[in-house]
Amino acid sequence: MLNIIKTNSEQQFNETGAGIIASLLQSNPRAILGLATGSTPVGVYEKLIELYKEGSVSFKQASSYNLDEYIGLPVDHPESYRRFMDEKLFNHIDILSENTHVPSGAAANPEQAAKDYANLLDEAGQIDLQLLGLGHNGHIGFNEPAEELTGPPHVVKLEERTRLANARFFPSIDEVPTHALTMGIGSILQAKQILLMAKGEDKAKVIAKALKGPITTKCPASLLQTHSNVVVVVDQAAGRYL
Ligand code: F6R
Repeated sequence: MLNIIKTNSEQQFNETGAGIIASLLQSNPRAILGLATGSTPVGVYEKLIELYKEGSVSFKQASSYNLDEYIGLPVDHPESYRRFMDEKLFNHIDILSENTHVPSGAAANPEQAAKDYANLLDEAGQIDLQLLGLGHNGHIGFNEPAEELTGPPHVVKLEERTRLANARFFPSIDEVPTHALTMGIGSILQAKQILLMAKGEDKAKVIAKALKGPITTKCPASLLQTHSNVVVVVDQAAGRYL
């Protein structure tokens, strides 16, 4: 089932996303969260921090598994996704740091790190809610469009378009890593519920293609059409063709 929620302002967009995550934690304090980085969830995380500070939500018993991480950046690099999560969310809430998981992009052997992350996810059991942003090429996590997609966590070569989109966070494009470690499409689709969020005019066409177009590995997010519980939160601009 696909439930599309169109929001009218940045504030409503963030509140809606955070509200879905907060209600899950209120009904299931031990929830396993699948989390994303990028610009889309930043305001959602800010709202969650607010809800935590006012005592409406606690992450004390929750655990989290992030979608992806760049390969080759030290953990404390300003653009590593571990650092992003610590700074944008984890350091401001009561989640136990040992319960937060981000794939290890700094590992000497990334292929092994992907296998280790797969094992970790298997041991964790089913993710209750997987938060996703959407790439301009239809990627989710770093599952880039391809003839074939990979189910479990794996190493992926980033498309130039993805590197360019993310270059805004780095001093220059040359410093954007060329590879990443990502949960696979299989790992994502195993979540009980998926929360896909997109905002801005630049996501309007790709989100319509993903949700209403053919199901194809050339638009990895279109695979979400096969999932039984997807909530989509968009702003007016991204939801234009929905
Ligand atoms: C981030 C991730 C990516 C982003 C996507 C959209 O962990 O997995 O798929 O969600 O690239 O990025 P933003 O939100 O910056 O537009």
